[in-house]
Amino acid sequence: MNVPLLDLKAQYLSIKPEVDAAIAEVLESQHFILGPKVEQCEKAIAAYSKCSYGIGVSSGSDALLACLMAENIGGGDEVITTPYSFFATAGAIARLGATPVFVDIDPQTYNLDTSEILSKITPKSRAIIPVHLYGQMADMDPVMAVAREHGLIVIEDAAQAIGSEYKGRRAGSIGHYGCFSFFPSKNLGGAGDGGMVVTNDAQRAERLRCLRGHGAKPKYYHKIVGGNFRLDAIQAAIVSAKLPHLDAWTAARQRNAQRYDQLLGEASVPIGLPIVATDRHIFNQYVIRVTNRDQLQAYLKQKGVGTEVYYPVPLHLQECFAYLGHKTGAFPESERASKETLALPVDPELTEAQARFVAECVCEFLDREVPALAGAQSR
Ligand SMILES: Cc1ncc(COP(=O)(O)O)c(C=O)c1O
Repeated sequence: MNVPLLDLKAQYLSIKPEVDAAIAEVLESQHFILGPKVEQCEKAIAAYSKCSYGIGVSSGSDALLACLMAENIGGGDEVITTPYSFFATAGAIARLGATPVFVDIDPQTYNLDTSEILSKITPKSRAIIPVHLYGQMADMDPVMAVAREHGLIVIEDAAQAIGSEYKGRRAGSIGHYGCFSFFPSKNLGGAGDGGMVVTNDAQRAERLRCLRGHGAKPKYYHKIVGGNFRLDAIQAAIVSAKLPHLDAWTAARQRNAQRYDQLLGEASVPIGLPIVATDRHIFNQYVIRVTNRDQLQAYLKQKGVGTEVYYPVPLHLQECFAYLGHKTGAFPESERASKETLALPVDPELTEAQARFVAECVCEFLDREVPALAGAQSR
């Protein structure tokens, strides 16, 4: 049986008439950048995220960058974040000449260990970027409490977490800004790059709208130095067409996750399953933890099961951040996670038979390989 990590073609076929019509409308209008389709999408995503404003941008990466730029964060400033995320989180900080200051993760949720934030605050601290990894929100109450106390800006990296909730509040609605990605593999993906910032602050929304068009207001009169961070109308139209399906897709992801929890939990194999610590985990990824991850991944590949390692090298050990001077061992939980975690297929299109097959393959491997390995190691 072939089980891809993600079946975007199947999803497209299930809503093809709606997506095709949305694209055709943009082609008919020949209005390709910003404009009414982007405005519609901004309103819809802001409402979905229980925020007042949405600002469409060119990607999740540019969403993070634009928020930092909106706060004039740059050389000499420090921004606290996690070393266990996609590169964009720390990349946005470094691109502006600011310093990413890492805080290790909670091994249960893979999100920021909030008890460590306070010890990283200095007079140079300007912002915190909590990442809602794999679709589960970080523990936001302590993040906001520290930020309030020290006058820091909070930018939620919700690229993987649209629609997830923490104490009844949606991803993106708690911090000063929330950043989403419409990268095709996200729960709400476009047909290329795209992203959005949400905020409840009218002035911040206005500044972001200015920044995404090279800081011009009006056209050709540049108040600030921004960039080309504009969202394309085709991406906005596709995202808007897909949004009405998002809750059903999320429910299917949650059903798949429950199925794995049951199948893998009942088998007495040495495996760490995802821990749901907040109200609404949207399972952008279903990530297991095993000690012999690379062998398991190779075994699953041979069986036709697609998997992915998010992320094999934590950010503090990336070559481009050598100048920060971190050594192996600096953030042990992030380093352990990068060696032990593996994402299994959890997309809405995954069938029950496919989920059972994946779980069977995982158990088969762990039943056979782990005792043998443990024996070999103890000899
Ligand atoms: C946690 C996180 N932050 C930021 C991004 C960047 O988003 P994009 O790929 O749209 O630039 C991603 C996308 O993979 C992500 O997963």
